[in-house]
Amino acid sequence: MSDQRRISAASGAPLLRVRGVSVTYGVQRSIADILARRPGGAIVALDDVDLDVDAGEIVAVVGESGSGKTTLARVITGLIKAESGVVEVEGEGPNDWRSVGMVFQDPYETLDPKRTLGEFVAEGLEAQGLPMDRIDASLEAAELRPASAYRDRVPEELSGGQRQRAVIAGALALNPKLVIADEPVSMLDVSMRAQILALIERLRREQGIAWLFITHDLSLAWAISDRVVVLYLGAVLEEGTAEQVLRNPSHPYTRALLAALPSTDPRAAGTHSLAAGEIPQGAAPSGCRFRNRCAHAVEACASARPPLEAAPSGAAGHRVACFRAAELPAAASVARHAPGGATPSGGA
Ligand SMILES: Nc1ncnc2c1ncn2[C@@H]1O[C@H](COP(=O)(O)OP(=O)(O)OP(=O)(O)O)[C@@H](O)[C@H]1O
Ligand code: SF4
Ligand SMILES: [Mg+2]
Repeated sequence: MSDQRRISAASGAPLLRVRGVSVTYGVQRSIADILARRPGGAIVALDDVDLDVDAGEIVAVVGESGSGKTTLARVITGLIKAESGVVEVEGEGPNDWRSVGMVFQDPYETLDPKRTLGEFVAEGLEAQGLPMDRIDASLEAAELRPASAYRDRVPEELSGGQRQRAVIAGALALNPKLVIADEPVSMLDVSMRAQILALIERLRREQGIAWLFITHDLSLAWAISDRVVVLYLGAVLEEGTAEQVLRNPSHPYTRALLAALPSTDPRAAGTHSLAAGEIPQGAAPSGCRFRNRCAHAVEACASARPPLEAAPSGAAGHRVACFRAAELPAAASVARHAPGGATPSGGA
């Protein structure tokens, strides 16, 4: 546990607190639906999600495409409103957050191609009423050094990695305590990924910044995070420290994901995707939402949703949503796929 996290744990309140958050998107009807007078559909993107991030902690949210990761990021940053639930940063609601930054997968979602990096960072400072003398320090904190060499460049004069550093500089300028990073390295090549992961880890170590690191890539979660939250069809199926979830997975889904990794060490390549069969399109199944892909499903799994509760490991903070978790064979069945070696947060 990092020093920052110990301090936060001691005070009892997480930096980010998400409770019972649900989001449903309305689905537009096709012309055929309209002519047939079929009602519009709805997609439950998040269903009663709880999540904590402590000060200075790196929490990875892992999930396949469509599991609700970006929706979660957008709710936390206030870009969309949850239909129910609570999101608080330092005990405050979304209108009072000055301390949350956002980094998207594609830097061009954030950077204006016509604006220089100096103008980009200045825009954020101006919006928050912060002094302009933070521009160079922010660029250099994101390892765009010397700032004078980057301040007047436009995005197309940068590499992909430098563009993502520029986005991070924009977030750093606002002095964040928490950064929500949605697939921040998935468009980068392997060496750039390692550099950005190292930057994230350094910013956590030196500035105490907490990160919610969203990824479809289990190996990245292992490389960077203190804790891992496994999201599936809008619900948390397992959570715990990276050690607990990746070395001793309790949920059949987490086990399937680990078993599907081509390498015995998820830290090795950083290119594995979560692919243990197809995630269902449309409405989640009744009861356990993983049941139509689960080799251990029994009739009872269809009738109620398994609560997220203490995992059979008994380790503090290790929680799993599976009725049969205690009956399943020990995770030795997936041990050959389990990561070995260094601590999770030192892997970049
Ligand atoms: N604006 C929208 N309108 C309707 N449905 C949406 C909208 N945005 C997302 N969805 C649906 O909500 C679900 C969750 O989407 P979300 O983008 O949050 O998933 P994700 O985990 O980020 O996926 P990916 O890995 O592909 O980015 C998906 O079924 C998606 O199709
Ligand atoms: S509750 Fe049932 S269907 Fe769901 S993961 Fe556990 S065994 Fe499988
Ligand atoms: Mg997404």
